[in-house]
Amino acid sequence: MPSSSTLTKAVILVGGHGVRLQPLSYYMPKPMMPLLNRPFLEHIIAYLAKFKVTDITLALSYLPELIRSHLGDGSNLGVQLHYTVEDSPLGTAGAVKNANRYLDSTFAVLNGDIFTDLNIADMLAFHQHKKAKVTIALTWVDNPCAFGVVETDSEDRVRRFTEKPNTNKVTTHWINAGIYILEPEILRHIPVSSYYMFERGLFPLLLKLNEPVYGYPFRGYWLDMGTPEKYLCLNCDLLLAKMSSPLTPGLGQNSVCCEKDATVHPSAKIMGPAVIGSRCQIDQRARIEGPVIIGEDCYVGEDTSIEKAMLWQGISIGAGASLKGCIIGSNIRIEEGKQVTNRIVTLDHTGLPGESCLRADEAG
Ligand code: GDD
Ligand code: MG
Repeated sequence: MPSSSTLTKAVILVGGHGVRLQPLSYYMPKPMMPLLNRPFLEHIIAYLAKFKVTDITLALSYLPELIRSHLGDGSNLGVQLHYTVEDSPLGTAGAVKNANRYLDSTFAVLNGDIFTDLNIADMLAFHQHKKAKVTIALTWVDNPCAFGVVETDSEDRVRRFTEKPNTNKVTTHWINAGIYILEPEILRHIPVSSYYMFERGLFPLLLKLNEPVYGYPFRGYWLDMGTPEKYLCLNCDLLLAKMSSPLTPGLGQNSVCCEKDATVHPSAKIMGPAVIGSRCQIDQRARIEGPVIIGEDCYVGEDTSIEKAMLWQGISIGAGASLKGCIIGSNIRIEEGKQVTNRIVTLDHTGLPGESCLRADEAG
C-alpha cells in the first residue's frame, strides 16, 4: 500500500450532462475537443503525470468508446489508465464511488473541463499538514454565481459550501476549482449506484458531520472551459504563452509551429502565434494573423484571411474567404468569398453545417 506521503492516483470526471459543450460537441465529448491540436484530456493527463500522479481512472458516461479507443491504456502518455462507465450519469461523487476499486490510498479528483497550473505537490503538503480528509482547491473569480462558493475560516477550514448561489447569497469570491484531494475512507459516505454530487451532497454532509474539510487557495492560472468562448480563450492563452502545458513546450509568444508535412505557399503570410497541423495546405497570398490554430488536413484557399481563429480538422476554406474570431468544427467547408466573424460553424445534430454566435468580448 503506498505511504500517505505520496499521491499517485486520480479520478478525472468525464461524464454527466456537462460533458457536452453545445454546439461544438455533438460528435465529440468536451474533454476530447482539441487544445492546440491535442485532445484536452491528454493535456490534463500530462499535467497529472508531471506530478507523478500516474494511476488515473477516467469516469465516463458519454461516448465512452470514443475516449477509450483514443487513449487506450495510457502508456503513450506515461500513465496507467482505468475506465469506469456509467450507464446513466451517477453525479460527480457517485462516479468516484463507482471507481472505488482503484482508490485504496490518498487520491485526487479533477473535473474533466478545467485547465490549471495549480501545484498538486503543494496542495498535497497542505492536505497532510492540515490532516484533512478532504481538501478542495479554491480559486478567486469575479462572478462566483456559476460555481461552488466556499467559505473558510482563518485556519482554511471549510465552513460552508454553496453550489451556484444566487447573487444575494454570495459571501466570498473564492470558489471550488474542481480539484480535490481525498482520503479513501470518505468514500463510505457516498451511496452505491445512486446519483450523488460532491457539491450538493457529500461536501455539505461532511461539514455537518464536522469532518476535516479544508480549502487550499491558489492564485495561478485556472479556467473552466464551460462555454465556447472560454474554450477559444484557453487555446489562445496557450498559444500566447500566458501559460503552458507539458505537451506544448517551447511555444513562444509569436512562434509559428508548422508540421513538417504541411505545405505553405511562399506568398502566404503567417504572423504568429500560430500552429498549423499535419497535411495542411495554405495557398497563395493567404494571410494568417495569430492567434490561429489550424488542425490536420485543412485547406486554406488563395487570398483568404484568417485572424484569431481555431480550425479543427479536415476543413476547407474557399478562395477569398475571411474568418475572424471563429471556431470552425471538423469537416466544414467555407464557401469562396464568405466572411465569417465571431461565429462558431459546426455540423449540428442533423449532420448539416450550422452557425451560431461567439461573443468576441468573452473569448479573451
Ligand atoms: N462521470 C461523471 N458522471 N462525470 C460527471 C457527472 C457524472 O454524472 N456529472 C458531472 N461530471 C463531470 C463533468 O463532465 C465535468 O468534467 C465535471 O464533472 C464538472 O461538471 P460541470 O457540469 O462542468 O460542472 P460546473 O462547471 O457547472 O460546476 C463544477 O465545476 C466548478 C468548477 O469549474 C462544480 O464542481 C462547481 O462547484 C465548481 O466550482
Ligand atoms: Mg465545468
